[in-house]
Amino acid sequence: MQTRTLGKDLSVSAVGLGCMGFSHGYGAPTDERETVRLIREAVEMGYTFFDTAEVYGTQEDPHVNERLVGEALAPYRDKTVISTKFGLRFDFESGKVPLPLIPDSRPATIRKSVEGSLKRLKTDHIDLYFQHRIDPAVSPEEVADTMAGLIKEGKVTHWGISEADEEYLRRAHAVCPVTAIQNRYSMMARHYEALFPVLEELDIGLVAFSPMANGFLTGSYKKGTHFDARYDYRASMPQFTDEAEEKNRALLALLCGMAEQKNATPAQISMAWMLCKRAWIVPIPGTRRPERMKENARAADVFLTADEVRAIDDALDGMEMSDVFGVQRKR
Ligand SMILES: NC(=O)c1ccc[n+]([C@@H]2O[C@H](COP(=O)([O-])OP(=O)(O)OC[C@H]3O[C@@H](n4cnc5c(N)ncnc54)[C@H](OP(=O)(O)O)[C@@H]3O)[C@@H](O)[C@H]2O)c1
Repeated sequence: MQTRTLGKDLSVSAVGLGCMGFSHGYGAPTDERETVRLIREAVEMGYTFFDTAEVYGTQEDPHVNERLVGEALAPYRDKTVISTKFGLRFDFESGKVPLPLIPDSRPATIRKSVEGSLKRLKTDHIDLYFQHRIDPAVSPEEVADTMAGLIKEGKVTHWGISEADEEYLRRAHAVCPVTAIQNRYSMMARHYEALFPVLEELDIGLVAFSPMANGFLTGSYKKGTHFDARYDYRASMPQFTDEAEEKNRALLALLCGMAEQKNATPAQISMAWMLCKRAWIVPIPGTRRPERMKENARAADVFLTADEVRAIDDALDGMEMSDVFGVQRKR
């Protein structure tokens, strides 16, 4: 697969693999051996960038995703880039299922997190360490200073912020240079385009999470698809309701039309659109199926001209669309 550079010098495959869904949020977890096998298959396909987090897991095994990513990538450690995340902890006292997550980026908590992640990932350094969510009780300077310490010690080589806003990003970057942000970005969630000039100015990359709007933009979900609310966040996502089908008809028609024109699939178009927009955007689609890993990787080979990207943007601007998980639309 082609590569892209995040920040000044972090080279990653143009499409990364989001590993969350193997153990968290998208139905019952995949068998552990199968997960390890599938992640290794992704390496063989050309993926070099793998995303996980300390909190991707189950009620019984809250950190399982990092453990499986570590096991899978151990034989390929020197040719892969692992991103993981700190700054959210489980609220074990709540008694709720799934366990609620609380922001916690106090330096002592981060130090504890990094040791746990290194152990589970079977490595002596994290290539890209993201603050998972901003903690209103801890300043960006304090978090960035903790990162500077970890980078000096060699435990982390690059860091970033997830769901970053401009002010937080600028303040953090001034203390310890940020390599990438990891924000929600898809054809249904474009609010962070307002940050693009800042990312360009500071030479910071964008790792796009949920790049296919949690799978919706693949066009594979039919009205009435049932998701098990015990394990699957899609059960409460507005883009998967029956009413959304009507509202998103034009969006899916746009994707399917472009897919036909380019001899590609809707999933590939939804990612080619962002890949062709800026050279520093890297989507990290999640899938547990090898044929879809291949399909998603090939999004990097689909070329859309600047005019085609602009035409899609114009169409998206003027189009009715349902709500989408994680975005507060202005009414
Ligand atoms: N920083 C954060 O706060 C944050 C939040 C959410 C996610 N993330 C990261 O971003 C990654 C990706 O996000 P996401 O998983 O939420 O959303 P996504 O990548 O937009 O969508 C994933 C869903 O799409 C389906 N899918 C994938 N490729 C497909 C294809 N070619 N055709 C049809 N269906 C396809 C998958 O199902 P199958 O598995 O059945 O293929 C899965 O249900 C996660 O794994 C995680 O690493 C980060």
